[in-house]
Amino acid sequence: MEEKKTYYISTPIYYPSDNLHIGHSYTTVAADAEARYRRLRGYDVMFLTGTDEHGLKIQQKAEKKGVTPKAYVDEIVSNIKELWKIMDISNDKFIRTTDDYHVAAVQKIFKQLYDQGDIYKSEYEGHYCTPCESFWTETQLKDGKCPDCGREVQLAKEESYFFRLSKYQDRLIEYLESHPDFIQPATRKNEMINNFLKPGLEDLCVSRTTFDWGIPVTFDDKHVVYVWVDALSNYISALGYGSDDDSLYKKFWPCDVHLVGKEIVRFHTIIWPAILMALDLPLPKQIFGHGWLVINGGKMSKSVGNVVDPVVLVNKYGSDAIRYFLLREVPFGSDGEFTNEALINRINTDLANDLGNLVSRTVAMELKYFDGVMPEEREDTELEAEIKAQFEALTPAVEDYLDKLLFPNALTEIWKCVSRLNKYIDETAPWVLAKDETKKARLASVMYTLLEGIRNIAILIEPFMPQTPAKIFAQIGVKAGLPETSWDSTKTWGGYKAGTLCVKGDVIFPRIDVEKELKELEANAPKKSQPVCDNKDGANVITIDDFAKVELRVAKVLTAEKVEGADKLLKMTLSLGDAGERQVVSGIAKFYSPDDMIGKKVVLVSNLKPATLRGIESQGMILAAADKKNLVLVTIDGDIPEGTKIS
Ligand code: ME8
Ligand code: MG
Repeated sequence: MEEKKTYYISTPIYYPSDNLHIGHSYTTVAADAEARYRRLRGYDVMFLTGTDEHGLKIQQKAEKKGVTPKAYVDEIVSNIKELWKIMDISNDKFIRTTDDYHVAAVQKIFKQLYDQGDIYKSEYEGHYCTPCESFWTETQLKDGKCPDCGREVQLAKEESYFFRLSKYQDRLIEYLESHPDFIQPATRKNEMINNFLKPGLEDLCVSRTTFDWGIPVTFDDKHVVYVWVDALSNYISALGYGSDDDSLYKKFWPCDVHLVGKEIVRFHTIIWPAILMALDLPLPKQIFGHGWLVINGGKMSKSVGNVVDPVVLVNKYGSDAIRYFLLREVPFGSDGEFTNEALINRINTDLANDLGNLVSRTVAMELKYFDGVMPEEREDTELEAEIKAQFEALTPAVEDYLDKLLFPNALTEIWKCVSRLNKYIDETAPWVLAKDETKKARLASVMYTLLEGIRNIAILIEPFMPQTPAKIFAQIGVKAGLPETSWDSTKTWGGYKAGTLCVKGDVIFPRIDVEKELKELEANAPKKSQPVCDNKDGANVITIDDFAKVELRVAKVLTAEKVEGADKLLKMTLSLGDAGERQVVSGIAKFYSPDDMIGKKVVLVSNLKPATLRGIESQGMILAAADKKNLVLVTIDGDIPEGTKIS
C-alpha cells in the first residue's frame, strides 16, 4: 500500500493567561482549519498546540495567589483545553512544557549544546524589563525604554549561559535568501534579514538564576533554562525527540508549518533555526506569521480591558459562526479590526442570508414541488452548464488557497458560488416553472443544480465550520460518510443522486437582531477599550509615578501668528509667569485664529523635549481635544496665575 503523505502543523504554545481572548483563538482556529483541510485531502496529520508554562511572571502570579506555580498553571491549562474544545479545535496532541518528557528533552538538548560548545557560561549585563522578562541591549532600547512595552528597564548583571547565536548569522542569511518560502508572508522575510540578521546577531542568554520556576540545568543547578530553548523545543519534544520512542519525530519532522503571530516570527525564523542547525536537525519547511486582531487599532490584551471573551461569543452564536468570522474577515497575514458590529454583520449577511436562506429556500421548494424527492428526468440548458463549470473550478481554487494558508481567499471563492446559486434562483424563478405541467423536467433540473451546488458547498466549508456540513447534509438528504460527502467528490459535478429525499430542518443560522445584540454585548463587555501602544500586556496602564513625570502648567498666550507655508500651524509665545516664556508651535490654526488665542490661558506640557516643526523650535505642547472634525483647546476655568502647576 502506498504510504500516506504526512502534514505537521503547529500553533505556538500559549502562555497560561487566566482569560484567553478572541485574538488568542485566531492562531488556533486557523491552524485547525488547515489541519482539517489536510485530513480531508487524505494527509496523515499532526496538529500540535500546547502551553508555555515556565518563567518569572508565572512564579510571581502563583505567589500572589498563594499557590504553587504548578497548581496555578494546572487550573488555567484546563480552561484553555476547555476553550479549544468548545471551538472544535481538533489538535492531535497538547504539549505542556511542564510535562516530564518535555523537561527531559530540553535538559538533553541544553547539555548537548553545552558539551559541543554552542552554549557557554558568561555574565550577562544588560537592560532588563521585568514584565517582559527580556534583556535588551543599549541599541535595542527605544528612547531608553523597553522596545516591546515602553516601560522602564533596569541595568542588571547576572551569571548566565549563552547560546552562540552569532555563529549562525551567515548560515541563517544564506538560508533565508535561498528559501523564499521559508517565511510567509514574504514581507516578513525582508524585515528579518534587514532589521535583525544584517545588523548582527548577539549571543543569546539561555539561562537564569534569579528565579527557579523553569527547567533546571542538569549540570549547574543554580540555573534554569530561560524562555526560548525551553519553549521552541516543544515542537520536537512533543514528537518524542530525544526519548526512547522517537517514531513520531521520525514520521513528522521537519514540520510543514509553524503558524505564529507576527510578534514571534523573529524567534521562529532566527533563534529556532539556529538551535536546529546546532543540533544538526532539519529546519521547519515554513513559518507563517499572521497579523493581529485589533480593537481601536491596538492589539487585544487582557490587562487593557479590550478583550473579547470567545466563550461568550461561542455561546451566543455557535463556534462555526465565530470561526467563519475569524477566517473570513481579516486578510490572512494582515491586522484586522474586531468589532461586534462586524461580527454580527458577517453572521447576518454571509451565513443567515446567503448560505442559510439558500439552503432553506431550496429544501422548501424541493418539498413543495417534488415531495422532497429528486426526479430522474431533467432538462438542462446552457445556464446549468455554466454553473457546473463554475463549481468544477471552485475546488481547485480553494485547494490552491488553502495550500498557502489563505483562508479568507478560499472562503471568498466559496461564497461567490453561494451568491451564484442565489442569483440562479432569481434567474430561473422555479415558482413560475412549477405552475406549468410541461416544465417539470426543467424545474427538476433547476432543483438538481441547487441541491448539487449546496452539496459541494457543504463539503468545502468543513475545514472552517466543522458543525455546519452535517446540518446541511441532513436537510438535503445526503448521508455523512458516503462517497458523495468526500472532498474529492466536489471535483466532478453530479454527486447528488436522483431519488434523494430532502427533509425540512431547523434554520441553520438564525438572523440576529443587531441593535438588541449590540446592547447585550456591550452590557457584558469589559470597560470600553482604549488604544494601546503596543503588544505587551498592560502597555497603556500607567502608575501615578508615571503620570507625575508629566509637568503641566497654566500658560498665557502673549503672541500668536500663522506659520508661513503651513496652514495648520500657529506659532505662539506663552508666558509661564516666573518660569519665563516659551515658544510653542501648535497644529490648531484651522480652528483658532491668532486673535482668538492672544490672552487665552491654556494648558502646556512644560517638560516635553523640544521638537522642531517646519524649522521652528517648539518648547512644549498645548493640550486640546480633537476628533476628525473638531479641535477644542483645554482652557483654565477661573483665575489663577500663569506658571501654576497642574496636577
Ligand atoms: O507568544 N490577534 O504565547 P502567547 C491575533 N508562549 N493573534 C493573537 C492575539 C491577537 N490579538 N493575541 C495573541 C507566546 N495572539 C509564546 C509562544 S512558541 C515556542 C512560544 C496569538 O500566549 C499570538 O500571536 O502570547 C500567538 O500566535 C498566540 O496567540 C499565543 O500567544
Ligand atoms: Mg504574546
